[in-house]
Amino acid sequence: MTNLTNTHTMQIDKILLPENVILQRVQELGCQITNDYHGKDILLICILKGALVFLADLMRNIDANFDLDFIQISSYGNRTESSGIITFHHEFTTDVSGRNVLIIDDIIDSGLTLHYLREYLLSRNPLSLRTCVLFDKPARRKKHVEINYVGFEIPDDFVVGYGLDFNEKYRGLRYIATLK
Ligand code: IMP
Ligand code: MG
Repeated sequence: MTNLTNTHTMQIDKILLPENVILQRVQELGCQITNDYHGKDILLICILKGALVFLADLMRNIDANFDLDFIQISSYGNRTESSGIITFHHEFTTDVSGRNVLIIDDIIDSGLTLHYLREYLLSRNPLSLRTCVLFDKPARRKKHVEINYVGFEIPDDFVVGYGLDFNEKYRGLRYIATLK
């Protein structure tokens, strides 16, 4: 069990979702994706860095052939609000044309990042394009984005843990928490 008195967890306010609840839901998402893509090959594109932990658990619950690639793209500076400016830090190498592409992201907030990435991928002619996010914060949406798989809808709080950071910290927490 994680010790909340460790210095790296001193700024944690409250636990929003404990590990067992997250893992149960990730398993359900994996089943749903397995059923929906029955008999098809998938290309998973994981958005670094936040979706890394989610991806690791999700892919072990997808019973299908898939390839894996990564992209690092962000609309965040060091603040807790979207800058609206999309920056590429790492570009994927797989040819997406004719592929069943499934984007894996940690959280959708303003929608700017996923809206941009979906347009970018669509211009490269995938056979299909779907999006899976673990968390949806609908309160601050600026761009409508079609999301096909959502783990949890959460309130408009800044959350950390299970891959999500604040200033690159807290990614290793096994749970999802709010900060003080
Ligand atoms: P959007 O472009 O505003 O939808 O921002 C999406 C990205 O911002 C996510 O992929 C996260 O990396 C980051 N983000 C948004 N909300 C949170 C949060 O509550 N905690 C940590 N990162 C967040
Ligand atoms: Mg992200």
